[in-house]
Amino acid sequence: MGRIAVMGAGSIGCYVGGRLAAAGADVVLIGRERLGREIATHGLRLSDYRGANIVLRPDQLTYATVASAAREAELVLVTVKSAGTAAAAQELARTLRSDTIVVSLQNGLTNASTLSRQLTTQTVLAGMVPFNVVQRGEGAFHQGTEGDLEVEWHGRLAAHAAVFERAGLPLRPHDDLRPVQWAKLLLNLNNPINALSDLPLKQQLSQRAYRRCVALAQREGLDLLAASGIVPAKLTRLPARWIPRVLDLPDTVFRLVAAGMLAIDPLARSSMWEDLQARRATEIDWINGEIVHLAERLGRAAPVNATLVALVQAAERGGRRQWGGAELLARLKHAAET
Ligand SMILES: NC(=O)c1ccc[n+]([C@@H]2O[C@H](COP(=O)([O-])OP(=O)(O)OC[C@H]3O[C@@H](n4cnc5c(N)ncnc54)[C@H](OP(=O)(O)O)[C@@H]3O)[C@@H](O)[C@H]2O)c1
Repeated sequence: MGRIAVMGAGSIGCYVGGRLAAAGADVVLIGRERLGREIATHGLRLSDYRGANIVLRPDQLTYATVASAAREAELVLVTVKSAGTAAAAQELARTLRSDTIVVSLQNGLTNASTLSRQLTTQTVLAGMVPFNVVQRGEGAFHQGTEGDLEVEWHGRLAAHAAVFERAGLPLRPHDDLRPVQWAKLLLNLNNPINALSDLPLKQQLSQRAYRRCVALAQREGLDLLAASGIVPAKLTRLPARWIPRVLDLPDTVFRLVAAGMLAIDPLARSSMWEDLQARRATEIDWINGEIVHLAERLGRAAPVNATLVALVQAAERGGRRQWGGAELLARLKHAAET
């Protein structure tokens, strides 16, 4: 089993890369200098909702700030945010061997094809991380929710499957990851709503008005997927098409029937909220923007998701970043009706 490089040492990169290193893999984390300093001081502390608590000292980790550190890698996991994929691909293209396998562990639908455009001789595969990782500072990363890594399968991944298994991150193989990616994207339609609520996820999802915003965005997406003949995979206990009905329920009933949806770390927020706080580009174009593009391809409109895209883009430019549930719902309903 050869070296594994993680391109984009952030929440997912440090967590997945760190767990693989703890399981005995030869891992190099490639990321920014700031995080490199944090890891050089504190190492990594990786915990999960099942009670795992893994400590890696700085001398047990290999960290680099340049893509050339991936030169000898057999497997590269790409964990930058979608806005950074094209640049990461360019950097990797200058350094990777042609027999390297590259797996995008990113949200959205197009990151693997963005990587393939630059990495023309390598094998690029789509992947999906179903769980949430919170970065707590001083090298601490916490996996707050469950799920296995879903990957488009290639025979050469088999050589690495055992170390992922030992790391507690088993790979679930797929011939075609699209249904899984669409199902994840439907769940992620909540990201802008969480970001604009300016509340932790648990508090936001406890309020019916915000949940109804999510339901509107999901129904719009589900209608367009049905019109395109795309059937999203079942990632949660409920099939995707039932989720909006549950989100619409009054608060007291919702708490009873959907306790699982609220079983979230009380402080966890969407990374779109974190991106707005840090004044970074968000992934809005790769999430709700995909529903808008799908509508365009069908000659239709997606006013609810288009409004969410516009509100987040305005917030990225320094505009309003705090919306009450009732006013956001009114704004989205108005968009849907006009
Ligand atoms: N976090 C989660 O819980 C979660 C769950 C499921 C899926 N995902 C998906 O996983 C992907 C990664 O998300 P994340 O939350 O882990 O992002 P993140 O915390 O922002 O981590 C990415 C890191 O990579 C760095 N980076 C970007 N381009 C780089 C380059 N060319 N060279 C070196 N470092 C580079 C970024 O630095 P800069 O910020 O300076 O660019 C950042 O520190 C996203 O697509 C996200 O939607 C995240």
